Amino acid sequence: MSKGLNDCTMLSNGVNMPWLGFGVFKIPDGDDVVKTVNIALEIGYRSIDTASIYGNERGVGKAIKESSIPREEIFITTKIWNSDQGYDNTLNAFEESLKKLDIDYVDLYLIHWPGKNLYIKTWKAMERIYQYGRARAIGVSNFHIHHLHNLMSHCDINPMVNQVEFHPFLLQPELIRFCMDNNIQIEAWSPLTKGLYLHHPVITTIAEKYNKTPAQVLLRWDIQHCVVCIPKSVHRERIEENTCIFDFELVEADMDALDALNEGKRLGPDPNTFF
Ligand SMILES: NC(=O)c1ccc[n+]([C@@H]2O[C@H](COP(=O)([O-])OP(=O)(O)OC[C@H]3O[C@@H](n4cnc5c(N)ncnc54)[C@H](OP(=O)(O)O)[C@@H]3O)[C@@H](O)[C@H]2O)c1
Repeated sequence: MSKGLNDCTMLSNGVNMPWLGFGVFKIPDGDDVVKTVNIALEIGYRSIDTASIYGNERGVGKAIKESSIPREEIFITTKIWNSDQGYDNTLNAFEESLKKLDIDYVDLYLIHWPGKNLYIKTWKAMERIYQYGRARAIGVSNFHIHHLHNLMSHCDINPMVNQVEFHPFLLQPELIRFCMDNNIQIEAWSPLTKGLYLHHPVITTIAEKYNKTPAQVLLRWDIQHCVVCIPKSVHRERIEENTCIFDFELVEADMDALDALNEGKRLGPDPNTFF
């Protein structure tokens, strides 16, 4: 099991991906995102999760350049937006993302949402991007089991990652089992419930027991479920706090108590109806 900030999970194609990354959703492009990503890199994060729809790829790329950390030491994820799906559109959108990030390959390229009926064509373009070495790994986001089944029955390369909403209130155990059985790494978005449920008494009681914060407990819970997590914050103290999760271990009873909070509650859209 993971022991430190730079520990990685090995994806099905042998590529290493850090268990803990930094999310930048809703951080405005320009000085805000440059400053925040610089702080995260300074603290020691080596994985950044952005998306074309976040509109901040340019700032993420600038921060990475400014940091002077060698490119190969940073794991960069970006995603193709719904309106860019389709074979040719995907190839174009990918080039656009690379240009904004000012890099010549990404570490992980994801289909952001399944959408209606273009994800197989989109995936064919992702396979080409992968085969040409422009993305070290490719994957999906917000895919249910039925989307994965359909995709995998039409593709040559299985997705390496599925990034989904995941926290104790939305456990999706069947999806997690399906992904594990098929060697697809699960990655949690909104691992901190967007900050909304950090005061839940079950979470705060466990946090007090370990002398940790609720945020640290939720991130540790992810890691012990073998789920990659990408918390977002714009505050240095929190960005740092969210890394201090490798020096304690939740006992089984506490893992179970957190699992028992599951009520299938979504904080974001349902992938079946979000086009
Ligand atoms: N694939 C997808 O469809 C999808 C969807 C949503 C998100 N994502 C990715 O997942 C990342 C994380 O998800 P998210 O941004 O929605 O939510 P999140 O990481 O669960 O929560 C972020 C919120 O929690 C607060 N926070 C952070 N650390 C904290 C701490 N230690 N104590 C108390 N509050 C804390 C932040 O506030 P401050 O910033 O004010 O500190 C922010 O309001 C995103 O940034 C994005 O990269 C992907």
